[in-house]
Amino acid sequence: MPKYYMPTMLLSGRGCVKRHPRHFRLGKKCMIVTGRQSAILSGALDDITAVLDENGIEYDVYDKVTGETGISEIYELGKTMRESGVEFVIGIGGGTPLDVAKAAAVYAANDIEPMEIYEESFDDPLKVICVPTTAGTGSDTTQYVMMMLDDVHNRRSFKSDKCFPYATYLDSRYTMMLPIEVTRNTAVDALCHAVESYLNTQASAFSDTAALEAVRLIGSCADALASGNITEEDREKLLVAASSGGMAVAHTGLNMVHAMGHQLTCEKGIPHGRANGALLVEFIAWAARYDVMRTVDVMTAFGTDLPGLKKFIDAVAPVTEEITEDDIDMWLEYSITDTVSENCYGTLTREDEGQIYRNALMNKDRDYKKWRYNG
Ligand SMILES: [Fe+2]
Repeated sequence: MPKYYMPTMLLSGRGCVKRHPRHFRLGKKCMIVTGRQSAILSGALDDITAVLDENGIEYDVYDKVTGETGISEIYELGKTMRESGVEFVIGIGGGTPLDVAKAAAVYAANDIEPMEIYEESFDDPLKVICVPTTAGTGSDTTQYVMMMLDDVHNRRSFKSDKCFPYATYLDSRYTMMLPIEVTRNTAVDALCHAVESYLNTQASAFSDTAALEAVRLIGSCADALASGNITEEDREKLLVAASSGGMAVAHTGLNMVHAMGHQLTCEKGIPHGRANGALLVEFIAWAARYDVMRTVDVMTAFGTDLPGLKKFIDAVAPVTEEITEDDIDMWLEYSITDTVSENCYGTLTREDEGQIYRNALMNKDRDYKKWRYNG
């Protein structure tokens, strides 16, 4: 029987931080973990510190998180939190600040060596409250934590049911200042999470519900994402979709899109969401070989067909970087088959991987009409 465990309290809607202050009452002192700007620009930091002040909760702000924040820095942050009597953590930002908050919460409650965290046998971390300012990561509803090790190319994740956030506040106003490119990339990332979860051997009725709703919500914002005219209502849908995608992935794990897209980010510097988006249509076409009806479910939820989805991705997150045969040959050296083999339909061979890369990245006029099953 499939299991479904998602202990995170989800609070959403305009002004949810101030409307639901009681979930912040987790101790006398907390650490706010965030990047250099988004917490301030979004207004989230002001709202949260106002609630903390009103409740007599002391706080420190650690606002040095960047894309290059690594395990040593996170370990030191956790140690500082332990020594200064911090009782809970609030993460504000995109995926990296939220993951840093979740990892530091483990180190704060466990006197372990940095790499011991990957043994996943630690005691309960400090409670973590997540306040996302992007709509893509899903870290606010998962038990996964990604950390950079010695350099930006070397990231490794761990997971533990103890690492689900205690509460997540979803207020779309905090995403209003996001540049359009980031909005699009993160939306495409969230779409990939949901689709990779749905077209996945580990999927269950419970994960499907969250995955298809995420696809539906993002599909309902497709025109807004393409035009750039994104309302607060659209942003609320995208934020809920991202968290729903996280809930789905929490139970299935990701699939080959993320595993293969990782190479595009590492080797070509293509942002995470755009890198994954480049492979999404080809992934669906590949999955259709094994379970065409579930690919139809995805297309129906999004409100288009495969050529329509390709048009959407090309409009909002096109890969314009030059990709060569040599690039692909090199990426195939790091075969991803093993890492996602349990989640893939059928057997994903090295030849399949090469074909997916080539079709997606070197054959940009590829015609998907034969998968046109939706009108
Ligand atoms: Fe992602």
